[in-house]
Amino acid sequence: MSPTQMLMIEHRLIEQVLNCAVEMCRRAKTEGSLNKVNAEKILDFIVNFSDRYHHSKEETHLFRMMEERGFSPYQGPTAVMRQEHDLGRGYVKQMSDSLKGAATGEKNSLVNFVENAYNFVEMLRAHIQKEDTKLYPMANNVFGHEDQIELTAAFNEVEERETALGTQTKYLALANELADFYGVHKVDLKNVQDCGSEVCGGCGG
Ligand SMILES: [Fe+2]
Ligand SMILES: [Fe+2]
Repeated sequence: MSPTQMLMIEHRLIEQVLNCAVEMCRRAKTEGSLNKVNAEKILDFIVNFSDRYHHSKEETHLFRMMEERGFSPYQGPTAVMRQEHDLGRGYVKQMSDSLKGAATGEKNSLVNFVENAYNFVEMLRAHIQKEDTKLYPMANNVFGHEDQIELTAAFNEVEERETALGTQTKYLALANELADFYGVHKVDLKNVQDCGSEVCGGCGG
């Protein structure tokens, strides 16, 4: 499996949790308060799986290598992707800050949490789409065989370190627990294809 295929599989799991976040916010608006336990689980996933685990592989290894192969770190696709990661961190900070009040039904906190969650979901869905369809193909176009080997080795090191911490197992279970709770479709990670979709039968991928 290539490094960008690994990242695309992670995207599918992140999207599953984004779908749960949308449903959690919909219910919070109807019920007048936020489900504190699930909101904490979703933020835990976003901070530790999406950002610390997935985004750091992109920023520290993939984007860095693209920049070494000629992409500007100050403008252009990797710079935009880094800016969007930072934008997401801002939304997540707002969500964390308003979580406690939102869970008690305090109106301003609830509105703030839901608005930031919706902005975050919209931004990250579009970000993932850009990476799957534009950025990763660009990377694969400029990387040579040796680059792919080097990047794979760097990703494997991250995988080993995170496996020792139980990261992948913990957050896969958490994503599926949330999907069960909210009735959200669970992605079949074993059948994600190169195009980023689950087996669709239409793309030939
Ligand atoms: Fe990204
Ligand atoms: Fe990504």
